[in-house]
Amino acid sequence: MLGRKVPVVTFRTRVRDEAVGGSNPFRWQDVSSDNYFAGKRVVLFSLPGAFTPTCSTYQLPDFEKLTPEFRALGIDEIYCISVNDAFVMNAWGKSQGLENVKLIPDGSGEFTRKMGMLVAKDNLGFGMRSWRYAAVVNNGTVEQWFEEEGYSDNCDSDPYGVSSPQNILAALKSQKIAA
Ligand code: BEZ
Repeated sequence: MLGRKVPVVTFRTRVRDEAVGGSNPFRWQDVSSDNYFAGKRVVLFSLPGAFTPTCSTYQLPDFEKLTPEFRALGIDEIYCISVNDAFVMNAWGKSQGLENVKLIPDGSGEFTRKMGMLVAKDNLGFGMRSWRYAAVVNNGTVEQWFEEEGYSDNCDSDPYGVSSPQNILAALKSQKIAA
């Protein structure tokens, strides 16, 4: 993936808009991947599912807490993507009280498929989901790649370490020292 452009896709998001009225004032908003990646250096991390234990207890909250350290190392935004629809991703973000990390709903899995990271998780009743990975993406080009070992369909385990915020921060820090 190093040096490759991330796929150009349109994400179907749900945004709050008081003009909608009523007790649930949300509407659809299409957001192009360019909107997330063009002209920015970002960390993208992808995980198997919203609300799942490792993602909710460690990966997402740790990225949220460590955002200031990423910003100090020249990262403009941190994005968490999952093959879940916008309703689920919004509910997850609300439950996590996110202020820093932005969630991207890849409900149809198009982005994940085009990244080559779509795997079957039928063994868990999940259908097609993302393998766990993260990347530093600079103006749409993959600058650094952090993929968990053992990419496979219906994997018995859920490796987590390479794509942790701690590991990515360590890599960014060591590159800064070497530069
Ligand atoms: C977890 O984050 O712990 C998890 C992810 C996918 C399936 C089961 C658990």
